Amino acid sequence: MAIKKIIAIGSAKGGVGKSSMTASIAISLSKNNKVGILDADIYGPNQHLLFNTDTKPKFENKSIIPISKQGIQIISIGNILNSEEAAIWRGPMLSGAIKKLIHSTKWDDLDYLLIDMPPGTGDAYLTIFNELNVDHFILVTTENRLALSDLKKTITMLNKLNINILGYIRNNILNMQDKFDDTFFKSNDITHLGTFLFDKKIYNFDCEYNSDVSNQISKIIYIKTK
Ligand SMILES: Nc1ncnc2c1ncn2[C@@H]1O[C@H](COP(=O)(O)OP(=O)(O)O)[C@@H](O)[C@H]1O
Ligand SMILES: [Mg+2]
Repeated sequence: MAIKKIIAIGSAKGGVGKSSMTASIAISLSKNNKVGILDADIYGPNQHLLFNTDTKPKFENKSIIPISKQGIQIISIGNILNSEEAAIWRGPMLSGAIKKLIHSTKWDDLDYLLIDMPPGTGDAYLTIFNELNVDHFILVTTENRLALSDLKKTITMLNKLNINILGYIRNNILNMQDKFDDTFFKSNDITHLGTFLFDKKIYNFDCEYNSDVSNQISKIIYIKTK
């Protein structure tokens, strides 16, 4: 098993579109690449829902075999546990679950492993960055002050951990017409990868949908990670 590039997608803020964007970009990248998704949101897994699969993964010896959907290899705790089961876990169990997914999953060779990050900046982040060589991070944000404020916390942490920021995605989910002030990103040399507007096929996620925005973003990802 070889993974060429590991890209985490996230923001400290919840509800900004991390999971939807991860899934949509995975679909675009998978047209020309072998792609896997690790759903690292143990408390709120979504990838199994986005890809509409409740199949349990196969366990071989001590390995977990990812589920394959649309040619994408997916591993989500949502396919392993009932949705309520992880809700009351404490920190060490959370880290344990992430480690288990990281070390027990038997991926086929992958060009890209995308990690759908949980919200926050806590234990889960540290576990993931300690256990995996994450090559790049893609920031996702809505355009309002709260999301941007939380995003800055994520950036501070990534800088401390020396994780390369590939760029940011704006998710203009409410189709706001206001001009977006990108001074902060420009002054920190953070590339704008693309902007999503409200998209019904993302809202009611259609895992056969090939979004133009995601296609554009995946081209940039390909070029920037070559
Ligand atoms: N561009 C978009 N168009 C339509 N719905 C979106 C878009 N981005 C996100 N959503 C919806 O917004 C909600 C939050 O998105 P989600 O991907 O779960 O965010 P996160 O993983 O950051 O918590 C979901 O209900 C999702 O369907
Ligand atoms: Mg999510």
